[in-house]
Amino acid sequence: MRTQVAIVGAGPAGLLLSHLLAADGIDSVIVESRSRAYVEARIRAGILESSTVQLLDSVGLGARLHREGDEHRGIYLQWPGERHHLDFVDLTGRSVWVYGQTEVTKDLGAARAADGQVIHYEAGETALHDLNTDHPYLTFRDADGAPRRLDADVVVGCDGSFGPSRAAVPPAERTVWQREYPYAWLGILADVAPSTDELIYAWHPDGFALHSMRSATVSRLYLQVPTGTDLADWSDDRIWAALAERLGDGVNGWSLTPGPITDKSVLPMRSFVQSPMRSSRLFLAGDAAHIVPPTGAKGLNLAVADVALLAPALVALLGKHDARLADAYSDTALRRVWRCTHFSWWMTTMLHTDDDPFTRQLQLSQLQWVARSDAGATGLAENYAGLPLGF
Ligand code: DHB
Repeated sequence: MRTQVAIVGAGPAGLLLSHLLAADGIDSVIVESRSRAYVEARIRAGILESSTVQLLDSVGLGARLHREGDEHRGIYLQWPGERHHLDFVDLTGRSVWVYGQTEVTKDLGAARAADGQVIHYEAGETALHDLNTDHPYLTFRDADGAPRRLDADVVVGCDGSFGPSRAAVPPAERTVWQREYPYAWLGILADVAPSTDELIYAWHPDGFALHSMRSATVSRLYLQVPTGTDLADWSDDRIWAALAERLGDGVNGWSLTPGPITDKSVLPMRSFVQSPMRSSRLFLAGDAAHIVPPTGAKGLNLAVADVALLAPALVALLGKHDARLADAYSDTALRRVWRCTHFSWWMTTMLHTDDDPFTRQLQLSQLQWVARSDAGATGLAENYAGLPLGF
């Protein structure tokens, strides 16, 4: 098989890249280790920045998002006894949309299928070869176990932090920065109407809690828990009791309505950046190059921003033999990656509690500054609602 762009990974980054390339007449083939059903059922965050929404709209992928998603003007930030609303639209002119990554992936999958995109799902033993020549290629076993070879002009790794692409950058060329956080999130999906109109980010001495949502009938909530937490120790009743305590059930007339929990998981939290995001004929996008902790929901938005830069760069490189955007891709993308890496670290460390009393006072002071000062609020709002593409 031969194509212009061999894409490793059919998550949102790989699917969106193939969509943008096809719109400009560039051919691609996607190789994905999981099944389509698995990829489309993976539960991820659910907040889209305004630039993500604009991009999806501009390439015909926004219809269901506007029908079924929910536009939010801002968030609530709270600590015991106080809840403040930050209005991003007033502060920055930009809103966010609540629409699950799972739904974005389904919309992309449907659009690519309608367009006849070739995607090899359930591929095994995917390996990248000859990336520093003009003739890179992939080898893999297809879903039937047959060996396959895919020749291309360039390879793009959209295969997340455990895929083979990241490691295909020669060790002498790459620099990695990372941070592990001493806590995790316990996340639930529940069949109950959200108890709030917009998301609540709650600092609490027992640990952070977040009330998010997926629709008018499905809530998504998170609790800070110690790393290594065993789900078996958290009964549904214990989870709802901790959420009620940390989110302020009974305070100022607000109450949290519990409901049947349909999914429970523990999410690790770490920051990771690998530079450069290009090595010869290999380009990295999304989680293959960087991981952020979930606070602030930047993972998907950052992957979309990478792809929004990479698609025109590949169109110019392969369609017009103009390498300027491709040569600038890594440095340009990493500017936004580090902005979001800082923002996600900042939200995480401002909101998650440990045993250090000095740190707690600093966190509360920081939260008060964000809630009470327009400058503080605007800084959070600008990052949360998303800086313009190309910032
Ligand atoms: C969600 C996840 C986040 O990390 C966040 O900051 C907001 C919302 C979510 O899954 O809905």
